[in-house]
Amino acid sequence: MMPSDSSLQFDENGNLKHFLTINGLPRQTLINILDTAESFINFGQREIKKVPLLRGKTLVNLFFEPSTRTRTTFEIAGKRLSADVINLSASRMSTSKGETILDTVRTLVAMHTDLFVVRDHASGAAHLIASHMPDHVRVINAGDGRHAHPTQAMLDMFTIRQSKQEFSNLTVAIIGDVLHSRVARSQIQALNILGVKAVRVIGPRTLIPTEIESMGVTTTSDMVDGLDDVDVVIMLRIQRERMDGQLIPSEQEYFNRYGLTEDKLKFARQDAIVMHPGPINRGLEIASNVADGSRSVILNQVTNGIAVRMSIMAKLMGARESSMNEDRS
Ligand code: CP
Repeated sequence: MMPSDSSLQFDENGNLKHFLTINGLPRQTLINILDTAESFINFGQREIKKVPLLRGKTLVNLFFEPSTRTRTTFEIAGKRLSADVINLSASRMSTSKGETILDTVRTLVAMHTDLFVVRDHASGAAHLIASHMPDHVRVINAGDGRHAHPTQAMLDMFTIRQSKQEFSNLTVAIIGDVLHSRVARSQIQALNILGVKAVRVIGPRTLIPTEIESMGVTTTSDMVDGLDDVDVVIMLRIQRERMDGQLIPSEQEYFNRYGLTEDKLKFARQDAIVMHPGPINRGLEIASNVADGSRSVILNQVTNGIAVRMSIMAKLMGARESSMNEDRS
């Protein structure tokens, strides 16, 4: 399955319809999503953590790959918007008996469901589903193969803005297994659309795809050069489950060269923040004292995921808060 372009994401009036990729989205759409998420960010501290924006709507979480953060925060986000939420995972679905993913989704649409959140190992799975949906049904990509993880990128942008306020002066380093990372691709697209000063990709040559520079980043295998004066350090998980061959020499050697330690972090700016989409491998891509240290915003990323996913779902479903504006400008 090959992902199609972003035109599928808009309806004929230019409103955001599906959320499948960051690629091709206008800057103002990203800003609107972040601004609306701001209005949801304190919901977790309220006594009644609900708003009726999606009351009467049915959200289906369709996860064909494991997930802790994305699946749970979509469930919480849907419930905080008062949607009815159904969670389905691969082992509980009839795809395990040979039904195609499209027949499964069509079956669920026949039950008058409204919104699908889809994670699949195949690049383009969410696009495929979106292209076969009736007009009123919405689809969100919760991670497809190596292709895209757009809601993760948006919660990462929210977390960066929370710490740094402005994007334009920032230098961001993305470190590690970029080859297998759908998160890195979506982050690079979002950072460029939001206008950061520079994005540097750091890692061993075996884990940096040659075409990545065409996305407007610079690459290096040297942590000292790469981390010099950066404002934001984003670590990526080593995705052993997607590796065909021996792409890293040994875990210890990888950690020695690319694992983020207090010593390596000294090359970044003093106020640099440390991010990781999770799940983290302690002692492989990041030292425990850095992951748990004062510059880490890893758990803030998780918390922010709820508000950002509420914002995206409300926007797709046409639910209006006073802060929600039109998409295209
Ligand atoms: N970051 C992320 O997608 O985590 P999960 O696999 O736990 O959803």
